[in-house]
Amino acid sequence: MEKTAGDSVLKVAMPKGRIYKQASKLFREAGLLIPEDFDDSRKLIIPVPEANMEFIMAKPVDVPTYVEYGVADIGIVGKDVLMEENKDVYELIDLGIARCRMSVIGLPGWKPVMYPRVATKYPSVASQYFREGGQQVEVIKLNGSIELAPLIGLADRIVDMVETGQTLKENGLVEMETLFQVTSRLIANRVSYRLKNQAIQELCDRLGQRIAARG
Ligand code: PRP
Repeated sequence: MEKTAGDSVLKVAMPKGRIYKQASKLFREAGLLIPEDFDDSRKLIIPVPEANMEFIMAKPVDVPTYVEYGVADIGIVGKDVLMEENKDVYELIDLGIARCRMSVIGLPGWKPVMYPRVATKYPSVASQYFREGGQQVEVIKLNGSIELAPLIGLADRIVDMVETGQTLKENGLVEMETLFQVTSRLIANRVSYRLKNQAIQELCDRLGQRIAARG
C-alpha cells in the first residue's frame, strides 16, 4: 500500500483483550492522552486525536499482519506471536508488559516415547525447538485450551505460555523446559518507519523512558 509523509496520524494495531489494558496504561504513563472509556469498548477503530493516533483493535495474533501490510504503522504484539508468525516488520522496543514464558509442559512422571505428539498454538516455534534439539515429534495445532491435550490423551506434551502457573496447577500439569521469556514488543512497518520516523521515534523515546523508570 502506497504511503505518503502527509499521513500524519499514527495508526496503531492494538491487541484486543488483556494486553490492551496493560498497553494503554503504559501509553498513559508515558504521557499520551488515551481516554480510559475505551478500555472496555467493543469499537474496532478508535480515533485518539489527543495523541494524534488511531487504534486498530486486532486479534493479537493478527497484529504483525496489519503492520507488515502497512494498514497499521506500528503495533503491539507478544514475542510469542512474533516468533511464530515471522513477519517482515521492525521490532523496535521491548515494552516489558504481558510478561510470561513459552514452555514445554506435560503430566508429572511422563516417560519419553519414540515419536511423541506435541499439541500447541505455536506449531512453527515448537517444530523448530524440537528439530534443533534433535527430537522427532508430531506437532498437532490447536487454537486454545492446549492444557486439555495431555489430560485427554491427544498429546504427550504441549508447548504453551505460562504466566502465573495457575492453569497448570489446577490441571495437574508440570513445566518441563522453558523455551524463552515473552513480553510485548512495539513493532513498525518498514515504510512507515521511514515516513513517520519523527513521530515513531518520539513515541519510542517516551515509552523507553517510562519503561526504564518502571524498572
Ligand atoms: C493462556 C495460555 C495458558 C494460560 C496461562 O491461555 O495458553 O493456557 O493462559 O496462564 P496462567 O499461567 O496464568 O494460568 P489463554 O487464557 O490465552 O486462553 P487459551 O487457553 O484459549 O489459549
